[in-house]
Amino acid sequence: MKAIEIKPQIYWIGAIDWAVRDFHGYITPNGTTYNNYLIVDEEITLVDTVKYEFAEIGLSNLRNIIEPSKVKNLIVNHIENDHMGALALFMEQMPNATVYITKRGRQGLERFFDVSRWRIKEVKTGDELKIGKYTLQFIETPMLHWPDSMMTYVKEAKLLISQDAFGQHMASTARFDDDFVENASYAELEDAVIDYYANILMPFGKLIRSKIKQIQDLGIEIDMIAPDHGIIWRREPEKVIQMYLDMAEGKTNLRVTVVYDTMWHSTEIMTQPIMQGIKDEGVDCKVIKLRATPMSVAIKEFWKSRGILVGSPTLNNEVFPSVAEFIIHLRGLRPSSRIAGAFGSYGWGGGAVKWLYQEFKNMKLEIFEPGIQTQYRPTTDEMRKCYEFGREFAKKVKEYHQQFQ
Ligand code: FEO
Repeated sequence: MKAIEIKPQIYWIGAIDWAVRDFHGYITPNGTTYNNYLIVDEEITLVDTVKYEFAEIGLSNLRNIIEPSKVKNLIVNHIENDHMGALALFMEQMPNATVYITKRGRQGLERFFDVSRWRIKEVKTGDELKIGKYTLQFIETPMLHWPDSMMTYVKEAKLLISQDAFGQHMASTARFDDDFVENASYAELEDAVIDYYANILMPFGKLIRSKIKQIQDLGIEIDMIAPDHGIIWRREPEKVIQMYLDMAEGKTNLRVTVVYDTMWHSTEIMTQPIMQGIKDEGVDCKVIKLRATPMSVAIKEFWKSRGILVGSPTLNNEVFPSVAEFIIHLRGLRPSSRIAGAFGSYGWGGGAVKWLYQEFKNMKLEIFEPGIQTQYRPTTDEMRKCYEFGREFAKKVKEYHQQFQ
């Protein structure tokens, strides 16, 4: 793979993973990339490595520019396996390298590798490393999204190497945001940003706001953002920062996502008049059937809407398993600033709708009650009630949405 010079003497040397579809349970229909960066300065410096399976590609990309033994500094921004899985293999080829990492990163690294013969230096926010004409400044970003996480800012290049933040799971021959503008597919890129944020960063909105403010307070000028996945932001880095701030502040679309599953189609039948009712109130509506949709897509679609309606049949007095799985994913992501309601069908005992409302309450979502249930098959009259339920929910969504304007 040809290295790409992103700034004078700073190269993207990452690997493109066209094939990955299951990224630790997060479905990636467009693959991903493992970006890492080489700075050819007086002290040759490598920022991050790649996933273990891509070690040969990563090392070959490095050798295309320089002999690995010449690498003096290795910055490890994040110890998740997709970025440091190949670290030990790289270190074998880079005997002269010193690893720069946060304290918590070092503790984690010691759990993954025998580091007894490695030179390791711990760094913290504000620490600098002068490598020649360039100066690296380290910015810890704990819990964004692991305890060890940090970013590396190349001062003279105004380049923020941001690790997972601002990244996207998108395998592409394009390397920069302006490639997408030229291809008129910028919306696809933005959707990939939302997808990544929703599935990985949703729990950390407050942290994201305070970290962006801290970076702004440090007076850091950003001309380019180079994340560890996907596209590099050089045309409009401020745009992706604003997207993050908006998402962290709860901004989203005046829209409803209906997420459901079904056994004998009764819950599915209910979604039709509900959806129509929402639409007739002038609110856009997206419908997701869980077993037909990857979980990460369902989570993204949830995040793109102010309102969420979850439909489930009752199975053995419990919520339907695929719906429970969705709720467990959602619970872990600690959603906020969304309004939720539930509907479903049952044969005799019921229980799914009640279970869903309890979960919404535990998650501290805004609640729309009561939900709507039908026994066995919705009657014509119940279908009308489902339509009204959809209309009333959409009215509440519009009302609730106002406070975020
Ligand atoms: Fe891309 Fe958190 O690893």
